[in-house]
Amino acid sequence: MNKRPRRNRKSAAIRSLVSETHLLPQKLVLPLFLTDTKNDKIEISSLPGNFRLGLDPLFKTVEKALKLGINTFILFPAIAEEFKNPTGSFSYSKKNFYLHRITELKKRFPEATLISDVALDPYSSDGHDGIVRNGEILNDETLVQLGKMAVAQAQAGIDILGPSDMMDGRIAFIREALDEEHFTNVSIMSYTAKYASAMYGPFREALDSAPKAGDKKTYQMDFANRKEAVMEAFLDEDEGADFLMVKPALHYMDIISDLKANSSLPIAAYHVSGECAMLYAAAKNGWLNYEQAMPETLQCLHRAGADVILTYMAMDYAEWYKKNF
Ligand code: PBG
Repeated sequence: MNKRPRRNRKSAAIRSLVSETHLLPQKLVLPLFLTDTKNDKIEISSLPGNFRLGLDPLFKTVEKALKLGINTFILFPAIAEEFKNPTGSFSYSKKNFYLHRITELKKRFPEATLISDVALDPYSSDGHDGIVRNGEILNDETLVQLGKMAVAQAQAGIDILGPSDMMDGRIAFIREALDEEHFTNVSIMSYTAKYASAMYGPFREALDSAPKAGDKKTYQMDFANRKEAVMEAFLDEDEGADFLMVKPALHYMDIISDLKANSSLPIAAYHVSGECAMLYAAAKNGWLNYEQAMPETLQCLHRAGADVILTYMAMDYAEWYKKNF
């Protein structure tokens, strides 16, 4: 035999010499669920170890994460039912606690990078990402609301906006709304290829944001499709996105790899709540070893082409990394 690939695997030192990817904790983004209280820390039953956080526990969590090298956070608000309406107008109200939290977090931790969620669903009495009329999700009417939400979040001090709504033309619309208000430095991480997935269950429990009727298939993508993701990537890049995201992550590695090959923008992958819950549940049953499966999952996403990974396991990974490198 001329070629014996095992020679390059014969010791830990040689394996690390030929190792092709190395995932730094700084590449991870920790999703956080926020609630409008001071002290609450309410566990999400389908995503153990993750909480709806009031102000004080939120500060503690961010402080701990920063110490571990996790510098970036994506924030999702749990909005009380009484503030929800068909147009999601509470999203840009001066009374929206989410906007205040952004300002408070930036003041306390200026070194942290904050990503917002731009979509109507946490604020919508219909539980949809857009305005609903006669069962239809209205695209262009929704854009107007997203533009207002984006500007309000920029005024609050957000670093990166995360439009997760999948309306057509939203990146251009939001970019223009921001630039008109002189927020030319606020970035956009577009949920470019967001699929209508069964993997969002625990997230919808966390925010109580499931659609009241119907599903999200007329705006989120069909999981049968691959080329369509590349088209969405071209659109978002043209419209001014700074990052392209694929969501979910693990079932969609081909999409991550396609976007990486077709764009010079950084690619993000969102390892979503349901994907994470599967790992937690199997580990809890003793069916697999979390300490091994967790870094494998994240490193493989990085290998597939994800420059940035949004994951509920960010702190676990950072702790594992500290022990192992
Ligand atoms: C909604 C939004 C969802 C997630 C992020 N933003 C859920 C949905 O589209 O219904 C899911 C994230 C996760 O499951 O971890 N705009």
